[in-house]
Amino acid sequence: MKKLLLIPFLLFAVLSMAACGSGSDDTLTPEQPEQPENPGDNDDSEAPSQPTDPTPGNNGRYLVLFASRSGNTERLANEIREQLDCDILEVEPEVPYDNDYNTMLERSQEELAAIRQGNYPPIKTSVETFDNYDIVFIGYPIWYGSMATPMQTFLHSHASKLAGKRIALFATSGSSGISTSVSEARILCPDATIIDRSLLLTSSSLPQMATRVPV
Ligand SMILES: Cc1cc2nc3c(=O)[nH]c(=O)nc-3n(C[C@H](O)[C@H](O)[C@H](O)COP(=O)(O)O)c2cc1C
Repeated sequence: MKKLLLIPFLLFAVLSMAACGSGSDDTLTPEQPEQPENPGDNDDSEAPSQPTDPTPGNNGRYLVLFASRSGNTERLANEIREQLDCDILEVEPEVPYDNDYNTMLERSQEELAAIRQGNYPPIKTSVETFDNYDIVFIGYPIWYGSMATPMQTFLHSHASKLAGKRIALFATSGSSGISTSVSEARILCPDATIIDRSLLLTSSSLPQMATRVPV
């Protein structure tokens, strides 16, 4: 059983195609909410606008979707994309986050509070269909212990399209764990199968990206 933990994230996700079932998250690196580290403003509503085309790879079975403000999750997403040679798409807020740290923190807190009231901040990314994909890899930074708000909006607005799909979650954080965001993903997409293993890289484990991801 312990050995399972040593299987790199992608291998586990790809192998999981053979098996089936939803179940619990099996985080590679734990820990919980604490002080944020990075820096944005606020908006309200949901509604993805025009469908956005992913950048194509040569392996159309997988799609990597990511949200990233300061680049860590984007690097991890690109590593996954390179390993799988698959399609990739960035989930972007309608209004870009401010570079000013305090403004960013204020906006993210407002957005998280709005989501708790059912109001999702607008994003400019939408996907028409996931029909061609076997697994959708979904990556995001941890914000105040939660999934970053643009990805929450994306999952909320694409829940019906993701029904029946297999989703593999990955995230980056300063040190907090991923489990709260896994629960959020399950609530946002109740009819998707969240693959049992998720991948979290914290600021101390980000340098190990190359060994944590491989197929
Ligand atoms: C608004 C905000 C809130 C954050 N909250 C947390 C947190 O609760 N726990 C944590 O470990 N890191 C937190 N961080 C740090 C980010 O999760 C971390 O730097 C992540 O790698 C950033 O990913 P990105 O470069 O893809 O945006 C927060 C960062 C921001 C901007």
